[in-house]
Amino acid sequence: MKHTDIKTLYAETKEYVGKEVTVCGWVRTSRDSKAIAFIEINDGTAFKNMQLIADKDKISEELLKKAMPVGTAVKATGKFVESDKNGCEVQLKGIEIFGECPADYPLQKKRHTLEFLRSIPHLRVRTRYFEAVFAVRDALSHAIHDYFRKNGYKYVHAPIITGSDCEGAGELFRVTTQPWNAEYKTEDEYNAEDFFGKKAGLTVSAQLEGEMAAMGLGRIYTFGPTFRAEHSNTTRHAAEFWQIEPEVCFADIDDIIEIAEDFIKSIIRDTMNACPDEMEFFNQWVDKGVIEKLNGVLNSDFGRITYTEAVEVLKKSGREFKYPVEWGSDLQTEHEKYLTEEYYKKPLFVVDYPADIKAFYMKQNKDGKTVAATDLLVPGIGEIIGCSEREADMDKLVAAMKKRGMNVDGYTEYLDTRKFGSVPHSGFGLGFDRMLMYITGVGNIRDTLLFPRTVGTL
Ligand code: 4AD
Ligand code: MG
Repeated sequence: MKHTDIKTLYAETKEYVGKEVTVCGWVRTSRDSKAIAFIEINDGTAFKNMQLIADKDKISEELLKKAMPVGTAVKATGKFVESDKNGCEVQLKGIEIFGECPADYPLQKKRHTLEFLRSIPHLRVRTRYFEAVFAVRDALSHAIHDYFRKNGYKYVHAPIITGSDCEGAGELFRVTTQPWNAEYKTEDEYNAEDFFGKKAGLTVSAQLEGEMAAMGLGRIYTFGPTFRAEHSNTTRHAAEFWQIEPEVCFADIDDIIEIAEDFIKSIIRDTMNACPDEMEFFNQWVDKGVIEKLNGVLNSDFGRITYTEAVEVLKKSGREFKYPVEWGSDLQTEHEKYLTEEYYKKPLFVVDYPADIKAFYMKQNKDGKTVAATDLLVPGIGEIIGCSEREADMDKLVAAMKKRGMNVDGYTEYLDTRKFGSVPHSGFGLGFDRMLMYITGVGNIRDTLLFPRTVGTL
């Protein structure tokens, strides 16, 4: 269908001025006066709408009546001209209607609440807010791939169906094709009869597969969906989210922290450059000052403290936290937010967490109590990255697994990486949807995903 993208018309206005153009799109708003009607359409290519000017001498009232309701899909032809208000517009010669839009279309002209829009995810992409979210989501994805490409990482696709619970937090969604019945005497018997002949689930992290790939390919990253059956009904948890997980051989914890900071800055910079109109929108309507905040992040060093220091800071804060702070207990969101938002006021790496609250694969520090792990905390959200140097010593790794009651036999392939030519290596996982929240200032993870899946909602 021959037509010109609205984005092209804005980018190359001079090229098209005076010529006849055809544009397609959905009516976003329209108004009528005695002699002229104004219709703004959007085709999803540009954040700006294109205004169509209908001279009622040239376009019949009857046709206009059908074309003007918000949500109508049209194809319009006319002379492309410069205009003071919008930079350019189309003087209609003809308009064809692809699909009419009846009056019960939920997105009428007034502003809607995000709660309401969450109830119509299939339509909310036709609002400015979500158009901006998905433009930035796209730009951020590309910025991530660009970063790794430039830095010599191979993009690998890890399996989504897996037999191991990497994080060991018991948040695996089960994958099965057969219902349980009373004939099975044990769970093992039931699993043996199932599709894979063993218990399977959806991946909670691609890390273990990523480590195995890196142990040969050198530097890899994964970027895929991740599933967690967490009963956390918060603004930052989704049951299905996207995670970026680089794995780097010949890198210790300090190296990976340096990489993580460089990576975060690079993807912020590229995304801001790619989406100036959308970022201006977020800055004005969603999170006042978000552009200044991000520029501040680009121009300063991230903070770094140990977990032990963080506990001291929290204890000295004089704050009444809902969850008490004690060395050995995990930091809660309220603690993370205090540290990064109020105390440091910038992104902050907290390093050397107690081994007992972290996963089995992390490198054990010499103190015998902590591991070479770090979380990157950012203001407004809390944790966006979970990161560690991996335990490269076979014996120590097996001991950590046994201590956690893990079935070591289920991990022979993973352990082979330590048996055959083990090397120091490190990696991290960035929650993509949380990163998007951070860049845009969007306050709820449900408003970053096309069809969010959270506990109780599918
Ligand atoms: O800290 P996590 O659990 O780390 C891992 O999965 C490691 N295997 C990563 C690695 O070293 N390769 O998760 C990583 C990040 C978190 O920091 C958070 O940003 C995000 O994933 N995340 C979630 N995002 C949205 N909804 C959830 N339920 C999330 N759980 C974790
Ligand atoms: Mg974590």
